[in-house]
Amino acid sequence: MKDITLHNKNFTIFIDENEINNIICTLANKIEKANIEKPLFIAILNGSFLFAADLLRNITDLDAEISFLKLASYEGLNTTGKVNELVGISKDISGRNVIILEDIIDTGITLEKIILSLKKLDVNNIKVATLLFKPNAYTKDYQIDYIGKSIANDFVVGYGLDYDELGRNLKHIYKLKN
Ligand code: IMP
Ligand code: MG
Repeated sequence: MKDITLHNKNFTIFIDENEINNIICTLANKIEKANIEKPLFIAILNGSFLFAADLLRNITDLDAEISFLKLASYEGLNTTGKVNELVGISKDISGRNVIILEDIIDTGITLEKIILSLKKLDVNNIKVATLLFKPNAYTKDYQIDYIGKSIANDFVVGYGLDYDELGRNLKHIYKLKN
């Protein structure tokens, strides 16, 4: 059970479900303590669907709202460097305190695209929360306010993260075996 195969690539367990749960509880506490007024969480699909659900279940002290944005920048094992358009925000979010929810921030290209698009919608404030962060791959200057766990430049799958669409349903996070 420690190793799995997806599309002929082998992955080994990296962050198990208990650790994921601990990371999320810690993040939820930090966000609650920041006491942001009527935060609007914007989860980036598809990757953050489980993270968003589990994080929000642990945020009970705030009048939290959630919305979903769709966008993709990844094909196979490497970033394409090309990001698709944003889809999903249909209502007026001007003046809102937004917290972006990402499964993973790698180069930051996706994050930049999201931040620039949200700024055009006249939001009051943008904070960023990510389950995983690859500091050695990050090329941008945007502050990442809430980081679950910083990791090396390994390719990881599971708990929302995919390898060519497989692996999102896995309970644990796995990394590619060399
Ligand atoms: P960035 O634009 O390079 O920061 O990449 C962000 C997106 O690429 C994430 O939202 C993921 O969908 C995907 N991604 C980055 N690293 C990984 C990984 O290790 N495994 C699976 N998807 C990843
Ligand atoms: Mg993603």
